[in-house]
Amino acid sequence: MKKFHVTTFGCQMNEHDSERMKGMLTSLGYTESQQREDADLILFNTCSIRENADNRFISHLGEAKRLKGEDPERIVGVGGCWAQSVKDEVFRRFPFVDVAFGPGQIHRLAEFLNSDQLSAQGYFEFEDFAGHLPAHRARQFQGWLQISQGCNCVCSYCIVPSTRGREQSRDPGELVLEAERLAADGVREITLLGQNVNSYGRDLPKESRVRFSDLLGMIDQVDGIDRVRYTSPHPKDMREDVIEAHASLPTLCEHIHLPLQSGSSPILKRMRRTYTRERYMDRVAMIREKVPDCAITTDIIVGFPGETETDFDQTLHVVEEVGYDGAFTFVYSPRRGTLAAEMEDQVPHPVKVERMERLVEAVQRRARERSQRFVGRNMEVLVEGPSRSDPTRIRGRIRHNKAVNFEGTAEPGQMVEVEISAATSQTLTGTERLLSGIGA
Ligand code: 5AD
Ligand code: SF4
Repeated sequence: MKKFHVTTFGCQMNEHDSERMKGMLTSLGYTESQQREDADLILFNTCSIRENADNRFISHLGEAKRLKGEDPERIVGVGGCWAQSVKDEVFRRFPFVDVAFGPGQIHRLAEFLNSDQLSAQGYFEFEDFAGHLPAHRARQFQGWLQISQGCNCVCSYCIVPSTRGREQSRDPGELVLEAERLAADGVREITLLGQNVNSYGRDLPKESRVRFSDLLGMIDQVDGIDRVRYTSPHPKDMREDVIEAHASLPTLCEHIHLPLQSGSSPILKRMRRTYTRERYMDRVAMIREKVPDCAITTDIIVGFPGETETDFDQTLHVVEEVGYDGAFTFVYSPRRGTLAAEMEDQVPHPVKVERMERLVEAVQRRARERSQRFVGRNMEVLVEGPSRSDPTRIRGRIRHNKAVNFEGTAEPGQMVEVEISAATSQTLTGTERLLSGIGA
């Protein structure tokens, strides 16, 4: 039996796509190998969001070249956003690559493997959602649901619109059926995925058009699903109906990821984000009013071209004011083919690094402060497995998406109550509460 090995870079959409690749390969009779050197088919699912994503992948590709040199029968495949952004150039730069494909052509890999291809092949026209392929889930009780593909935004720093194309939504009826199938298969937590989830549905034909909040309501109704999450929304499309859904739908978790990118309106304008600092803060106020305990997380870029000390200060102010439960912070990285990469006033690297240090300090301090509200409370935890740092303890996640390490006896996939005794910026600590009556 032939074996495959997949290495995944990038975001949750790529993790989802890799699960689909694995599902498809399993249905072709391949089995998964834990080691790259044992595989007949070596695959990379790539990302191109920042320069270091490119670099990390390219160093892995060196090992694939060596393995292919040892056994020329091996097949090396490169999929995902980096592949899509360089297209056929991949074969000129890396002649040992046999097959390359973008995020909308994963199914073509099967065609390639089933044919007696003698020459390298590239597939780069969007044809289908990866979500239509069979999946091989990493965890039995957690599942992805790809609700859309592509992005119609024109953020000036971002390569994604060019790698994942125009936005296309999947039919809501089809999504509900898939959620039901996942539930029947043991999934308790579903994460809806899209590049810009809350603009979902606008491209659908009139007769099947629903809003993102309607879709959330439909998934909430699926029996057996206890938790619903989604990523990533865009602040410009974060309307009252979506925020209200967090208050009214029992399964929808108390967590909203609201990517800020910058706290300065002039920089937001140059980023082409189409919202101002004020509008963003209005969204935050609406969340705080309607869902008071909601966790809010964000993405922030430092050192965007033209960012002055005053602009950066505005970002720090927003961080202080919002008090994020967590934030992903990135140093701006110029990407090929994007508007921002051509802007003249690029920020020197040492300035970016120094700003990043100040930002991380503020983010972590505020997150640590925010976390304290969980101490002393009993929180519902979905168990994921053993703790990473101490295997005698258990790890899980609360609805607010914070990780918890705790003492107890629960098994992966179980929902338990944990009394929280301590909290840092990233994780909570606690003890599993035994339900009264057990053992009596
Ligand atoms: N440089 C740095 N960070 C970027 N992101 C997207 N493009 C870039 C870039 N060119 C960040 C944004 C986005 C997250 C997924 O990655 O913050 O929300
Ligand atoms: Fe990377 Fe963006 Fe592609 Fe995800 S969509 S893999 S983050 S480039």
